[in-house]
Amino acid sequence: MGLKIGIPKEVFAGERRAASVPEVVEKLIKLGFAVAVESGAGASANCDDDSYRAAGAEIISSAAGLWAASDIVFKVRGPSSDEVALMHAGQTLISFIWPAQNPELMQELAAKQVTVLAIDALPRTLSRAQKMDALTSQAGVTGYRAVIEAANAFGRFFNGQITAAGKVPPAKVFIAGAGVAGLAAIGTAASLGAIVRANDTRAEVADQVVSLGGEFVKVDYVEEGSGGGGYAKVMSEGFQQAQREMYAKQASEVDIIITTALIPGKPAPKLITAEMVRSMKPGSVIVDMAAEQGGNCELTEPGQAVVKHGVTIVGFTDLASRLAKQSSTLYGTNLFRVCEELCKTKDGVINVNMEDDAIRGLTVIKDGSITWPAPALKPAAVPAAKPAAAVQKKPQGHGAPSEPMAGSSLAIMFGVAAALFWFVGANAPAAFLGHFTVFVLACFVGYMVVWNVTPALHTPLMSVTNAISSIIAIGALVQIAPPMLGGLPPGSSRPDELIRWLSVVAIVLTAINMFGGFAVTQRMLAMFRK
Ligand code: NAI
Repeated sequence: MGLKIGIPKEVFAGERRAASVPEVVEKLIKLGFAVAVESGAGASANCDDDSYRAAGAEIISSAAGLWAASDIVFKVRGPSSDEVALMHAGQTLISFIWPAQNPELMQELAAKQVTVLAIDALPRTLSRAQKMDALTSQAGVTGYRAVIEAANAFGRFFNGQITAAGKVPPAKVFIAGAGVAGLAAIGTAASLGAIVRANDTRAEVADQVVSLGGEFVKVDYVEEGSGGGGYAKVMSEGFQQAQREMYAKQASEVDIIITTALIPGKPAPKLITAEMVRSMKPGSVIVDMAAEQGGNCELTEPGQAVVKHGVTIVGFTDLASRLAKQSSTLYGTNLFRVCEELCKTKDGVINVNMEDDAIRGLTVIKDGSITWPAPALKPAAVPAAKPAAAVQKKPQGHGAPSEPMAGSSLAIMFGVAAALFWFVGANAPAAFLGHFTVFVLACFVGYMVVWNVTPALHTPLMSVTNAISSIIAIGALVQIAPPMLGGLPPGSSRPDELIRWLSVVAIVLTAINMFGGFAVTQRMLAMFRK
């Protein structure tokens, strides 16, 4: 057996997550490690001692016993002073640490001659590191849960509905900050059927917002908000003024505001003023995901859900913990991926390789010496900030053009198409040419229609297309119409009775399809009207 990984019970008040779950423990054991779990460590994440035991872990009843027996300790929250006291020289800790905010903890840990990997210090823009990115995995859970909390506090449906008891308009949700958590919130709110709008100071996220079903609302002021490393910067006073005006307008219109705007190392920007809260409709909801960093709303009370001016303001600081099984599973998987990088030999022995960019970034204390902050990554290793794992590209919608083709290949394509058309025009029989022209035009019109329609509207589009297809009724009409009304040419033989009656039936059925199709389309479109 290799080194022993210990998973203590989290001691931070209200923390329900565990640093690993039985499914992941099995994988750690396959990697050559032994695993010990403190009794009850996973209890609030729906993982009891027996499930860990079944996965191959040893259960240790006391925290002191667990810390003493472990070579490597996995934790969610940074260790308390009592936990640091239980550590021994040579031990490795992998956990959230936030070294910039916790200089005293860093000193205490260094004094213990341990090695510490801070999961929050991972270089996130390194694509190889995405599988280890616990900030992203937890932010995804937080964003999802923020919408669920909003739905819980909100007194109406999210989606628009037409019921026998009346028409229900869809809820309008405004999301301030479209980082990982914000994007997860946009996707969740859109999937529940709400009308979602979002804003961020980084213009590059606009396409990501649209691809998740939201609308990007711009601030009427030109200033780029990227501050390096994919993070935001503090904006100029002029921008902030323009942003406040836009947010005030949104606040008076929407039912739900979800905020998640953060700038690393700075207090959360106050984007929602008390005045804006007052302007919201009674029963509206604000979920402030930035509550722990002071909040994006002036009236947020961190850790609480309060009602002010008729608006419920949710300032919970444990959103990920409220979905403990999910966040623990994702977090445990992130730590397992870190272990894979540390133990390439798969024999349960780790090598903290400071030449590896990802490991170098993570390692904030190496054998008692503080190694934080890591030197900046070489520019070549930093790809353009990609959206988080939560972002799955959907087909591009209205206003989101697909990637432009290189000029030269476009010219070649047009050249080839022109030559082909000339060849067909010069050689094909006249009758074919007529049909071919109609075919090409139909392809072009069809392409323009479908590709310029927002994916969400594809169902009404299908229904209206179906209604239009009833144009085939003209065939049946020709069969039964008298010759002077444009039916069969004079002199040609009349169809027999059976065909005429069949035509009548066809006309009735296609009429249902046509008028019914248009009516259904109207009703579907009504659901999308704001
Ligand atoms: P965060 O939690 O620090 O901030 C949340 C969002 O708030 C950011 O999008 C930020 O631009 C926005 N914001 C800040 N001040 C604002 C203001 N005054 N008004 C409106 N919005 C404001 O960010 P998070 O979610 O941790 O992500 C940070 C960045 O890291 C993102 O750009 C993300 O795309 C990038 N990232 C890149 C990865 C990769 O390339 N592999 C992986 C994970 C994240």
